[in-house]
Amino acid sequence: MDTLIEVLKKRVTASIEKALAGSLVAEEISADMAPCLQEEFGHYQCNSPLRLSKTLHMPPRVIAQKIVDGLDRSIYEKIDIAGPGFINLTLSPAFLSEQVQAILADPLLGAVKPKRQRVLVEFSSPNVAKELHVGHIRSTIIGDSLARLFEFLGHDVLRINHIGDWGTQFGMLITYMKRAAPDVLSGKTPTDLHALMDWYRAAKKQFDADTEFKKESQLEVVRLQSGEPTALFAWKLICDISRKGFQEIYDLLNIKITERGESFYNPELPKIVQALEQKGLITVSDGAKCLYLEGFKNREGEPLPLMVQKSDGGYNYDTTDLAAIYHRIYQDRADRIIYVTDNGQALHFQMVFAAAEKAGWLDPKKTQVDHVGFGLVLGADGKKFKTRSGDTEKLIDLILGAVEQARILLQERLPEAAPQEVERLAHVLGIGAIKYADLSCHRTKDYTFSYDRMLKFEGNTAVFLLYAYVRINGIKRKTHADIEEILAHHKVALKHSSEIALGLHLRRFGEVLELMARDLLPNRLTDYLYALAEKFNAFFRDCRVEGVPEEKSRLVLCEITARILKKGLDILGLQTVERM
Ligand code: ARG
Repeated sequence: MDTLIEVLKKRVTASIEKALAGSLVAEEISADMAPCLQEEFGHYQCNSPLRLSKTLHMPPRVIAQKIVDGLDRSIYEKIDIAGPGFINLTLSPAFLSEQVQAILADPLLGAVKPKRQRVLVEFSSPNVAKELHVGHIRSTIIGDSLARLFEFLGHDVLRINHIGDWGTQFGMLITYMKRAAPDVLSGKTPTDLHALMDWYRAAKKQFDADTEFKKESQLEVVRLQSGEPTALFAWKLICDISRKGFQEIYDLLNIKITERGESFYNPELPKIVQALEQKGLITVSDGAKCLYLEGFKNREGEPLPLMVQKSDGGYNYDTTDLAAIYHRIYQDRADRIIYVTDNGQALHFQMVFAAAEKAGWLDPKKTQVDHVGFGLVLGADGKKFKTRSGDTEKLIDLILGAVEQARILLQERLPEAAPQEVERLAHVLGIGAIKYADLSCHRTKDYTFSYDRMLKFEGNTAVFLLYAYVRINGIKRKTHADIEEILAHHKVALKHSSEIALGLHLRRFGEVLELMARDLLPNRLTDYLYALAEKFNAFFRDCRVEGVPEEKSRLVLCEITARILKKGLDILGLQTVERM
């Protein structure tokens, strides 16, 4: 259904058209609406009179009056012309009640159903055998939330894991493991991602120090690239081990993602370079094939190219990304392509997008591409986050740490609960806390990781929101309400100012989802949900539910709140609990 702002926009636009159409062009007629910044002024405001004043050679307040004269007064409690000529609109409780009631019948809970698109969200994308750093959790959590949003809105979503599963580093890793862990490489002894990471570090050290090792590693790369069976077997094995390690994290975080790593594009790379050469876009510099783009410079101010083929004939990260965008445009036929990586790669993606446009593959009018960047994860000391024992602690332990902290908290609060129950709740709470803490800060900023902060009961935290949800369930239990029965026979009738404020906020859910889909900022939704929980708490404080004449209406209001809260949390990737 239309968002509330859209409903009002249509009405005000009709009035502008009636009063002023003769002297305006079409786009000027469309009303300029915004939510009121302060509740005491009204619910929504129209800013058109100021904008139209120049064209119409009329004072804004005169225009405002003309627009107001044409409005259907019955849906407003108050209409004010304020300041230089804003129109402040306060909706009548009856109209707002109807609007809020309508949410129940809408599968999108008040959001506009967009034209269905194919949206490709690339996220997580860790590197095989290499350090899996906390930045990858950020990408995983943010990317999953964006994918969930687009899925909820009805789009056809591809969740792609662009893992780093190819490159020269495999030469040194295989060489090292042939010597240090032959039984693992032959598949006889199982191992895990953690051990691989240790071998990787050791291999890198030796590669830098030992020329014989370095030579052997380079030969190994050639063997791998030419498809020599033992090298290929070792590579597959290493990828499998890593994959299992990654999957453990995805399972814990309840994340679904399809692997399509760098190696997937190998067969395409020569064709990509050829196509660029044919278009005359390649310059050879020191034997390497480069693609120069206007406006891209390095720190020294020199032109910065994408390097698509090294002097030794090898391809690299840039080539793979060009092949990937080509594939996503022509094979996947994506309408929108979203890349979730740290801010550090912003320039790389701007260049990939510019190159794809220059090559004539990407038409920004047809395909929207976005790099969704995010800041660093910081420790309590304000420095780049390192796990407790330096860099050797497993990432999974970091996540489980939050579950452990949640368990301690719950054991205190629910001393009589069964251990399995505590375990289940701790899981929901701990994982939810990690995700929410990440999503609730503006993603482009650095974010400070702290178990204490993320598990606080007060403030903008997962626990605070989950607790509001638990509270609603408590009311339902206390009143022994048969919700289905109540919904079938009763409607919400907003009266008290706290009810009105809650109702208005509920009806804005769709507006927030629209904003989040536009600028890809999950904190838009966390801010909204935090305000929702606060408004619900105010309602709960001011309005009795049980045993009052308004009981049924208020239970309907509680139910709508519960649905939106649950769905909002679901879009963030959080589960809810019934008690806590
Ligand atoms: N594997 C890369 C890293 O860990 C991230 C991949 C980002 N995606 C891409 N299409 N380049 O830094």
